[in-house]
Amino acid sequence: MARLKLGVLISGRGTNLQALIDAAADPAFPAEIALVLSNRGDAAGLVRAEAAGIPTAVVRHRDFADRPAFEDALNETLARAGVELVCLAGFMRLLTARFVDFWAGKAINIHPSILPAFPGLDTHRRAIDAGVRFAGATVHYLSAEMDAGPIILQAATPILPEDDPDSLAARVLEAEHVIYVRAVRWIAEGRVTITDGRTRIRDVGDAAAYALPAKSAAV
Ligand code: GAR
Repeated sequence: MARLKLGVLISGRGTNLQALIDAAADPAFPAEIALVLSNRGDAAGLVRAEAAGIPTAVVRHRDFADRPAFEDALNETLARAGVELVCLAGFMRLLTARFVDFWAGKAINIHPSILPAFPGLDTHRRAIDAGVRFAGATVHYLSAEMDAGPIILQAATPILPEDDPDSLAARVLEAEHVIYVRAVRWIAEGRVTITDGRTRIRDVGDAAAYALPAKSAAV
């Protein structure tokens, strides 16, 4: 069976990209990475892609007069690579409603919090300052609003009294790598549908599979 073609958009180090590269290295994984696209030429994730023999492209937002022009260039590059699902993996540019509409139901993001809590930047600092006891990560479909959109999968992990943003980010990141790969697998297997802003996951068997508790999220 043909594997779903992913376009992974990055701006930085690319550890979520690496999790997808590692998963897709198994020919039985139902998706493959057709393109890694960065808005920054110095993104370390580009090196990960090149090491894995995956095509890369750089579309620098600074080279364009405005967001629509930048996004047209993104779209052209994604289309040329035959991308069927856009996966934002630490892509740090806001995307307009026009881009999001174009990819409706075909673009996902990972965010390091249990959305809708703590969208945006500096997530871990804000969670620690708020005194909440759990942090986590969310994979969701893109919507015009930042870090919103129908939720596919979440994982929770405790916030420990001695945590600082870096130690918490590292714990959450382990969970991110688990849930991003799982969400992509489910979409590629055709299990995920969106109705009224909520997703349904068909035939996953175990209800715990889409709300990972701290323990299983850490493996
Ligand atoms: C990840 O923690 C991801 O959740 C976050 O950026 C990091 C990228 O790390 N994304 C956001 O905050 C989006 N709002 P990575 O480059 O190692 O995958």
